[in-house]
Amino acid sequence: MKVLNFGSLNQDYTYRVSHIVQEGETISSSSLEIYPGGKGLNQSVALSLAGAETFHAGLIGNDGLWLKEYCDRYGIDTSFIGLAEERTGNAIIQVDDKGNNSIILFSGANHAVSVELIEKILENFSEGDLLLLQNEINASAYIIKKAKEKGMVIVVNPSPYTEEIAKWNLEQTDLLIMNEIEAFQMTGEQTPMIILDKLTGRYPETSIVLTLGDKGAYFADKEKRVYQQALDIIPVDTTGAGDTFTGYFIKAFFLEHESPEHSLEIATYAAAMATFREGAAVSIPAAAEVDGFMKKRGG
Ligand code: RIB
Repeated sequence: MKVLNFGSLNQDYTYRVSHIVQEGETISSSSLEIYPGGKGLNQSVALSLAGAETFHAGLIGNDGLWLKEYCDRYGIDTSFIGLAEERTGNAIIQVDDKGNNSIILFSGANHAVSVELIEKILENFSEGDLLLLQNEINASAYIIKKAKEKGMVIVVNPSPYTEEIAKWNLEQTDLLIMNEIEAFQMTGEQTPMIILDKLTGRYPETSIVLTLGDKGAYFADKEKRVYQQALDIIPVDTTGAGDTFTGYFIKAFFLEHESPEHSLEIATYAAAMATFREGAAVSIPAAAEVDGFMKKRGG
């Protein structure tokens, strides 16, 4: 099973701050680092480090060639990363003393995806291959439609949530994976069980993974519900933890055919490790590290 991740590539400008800036307030940061990022790129790095055969498709500007090189270094197939006229997407990220973040996105080249490009790339994939999407590129509704026609397994991480997502055929997806903010935006609900009821009712053929940060994570489908508690850790930077969770969950659940219970567990340990270092992609652990951590912590 090949994994095609059609997703964003961003340059992350990460500012370390004492607290997330308030409306009307000006604050100084204690540091600025430029990291590779984008939910797309991060999830490809997580998939590849987890051991999946990963193809990243997306667009960068001339200023973003280093992001493609970064993906190459991690064994990701980058033949479908193209050059656009626009500048590369970027993110302004504030990380506070508790490791929490707040992000502003500039789409740039990520939003230059054309129908022709989608068709050309999808020609290289077939029934049984897996498509992964987030919501930082344009034309996702069309990508889902074409991938479904081919019989691909479809996983969507509706992040960040926008009204546009209501137009996507999410009932055609095999897995929806989201955090509590996106779940609230999709359902208007904040109680995990009610969110899961609503989403499994709305999309009966789709499995749902709901991540709740330090409150753990749920898996649900029409037959079962599984809960995995979070690890007791002190995070340095939570940026990219959700992306790490997504990559590791997909590898375990779809490629290794692990149970939802074990897949949630592996993803939880991997995501916890991603909070130990600053940055998004650069903080994602390798499979052997996750394995060692699980053994040490008794997982
Ligand atoms: O999920 C973290 C990512 O969100 C960052 O790398 C940033 O680029 C934004 O896409």
